[in-house]
Amino acid sequence: MEVNKEMAEKFRVYKCELCGNIVEVLNAGDGDLVCCGQNMTLLQEKSADSSTEKHVPVIEKTPEGYKVTVGSTLHPMVDNHFIQWIELIADGISYRKYLKPGDAPSAEFCVRANKVSAREYCNVHGLWKS
Ligand SMILES: [Fe+2]
Repeated sequence: MEVNKEMAEKFRVYKCELCGNIVEVLNAGDGDLVCCGQNMTLLQEKSADSSTEKHVPVIEKTPEGYKVTVGSTLHPMVDNHFIQWIELIADGISYRKYLKPGDAPSAEFCVRANKVSAREYCNVHGLWKS
């Protein structure tokens, strides 16, 4: 194996900078992920908001499970700038809700779990985690 090679890993998200394909790894192999003739870009999970716009998912416990909102100030949901999906990872199981412009930037998941984290993808600002 090459040194410093970026390995595919379960749950990692990659984007093609040319066509906009975005894929998540379901099973990790040794190969590079290639689209449109070039390596796909690993999306880094950002977890700290630096601007006034808030992207870090906020997780709340509800009677039925968990509600995830983006973010501490509601993120815009307009045609050219919106949250495409919100994912809850609950005890290692992934649950995802896809959103469209005009929807609320939140998702409710009826699950019980001991350990949860959340991710969301903004079509302009990328992948975020809490
Ligand atoms: Fe954004």
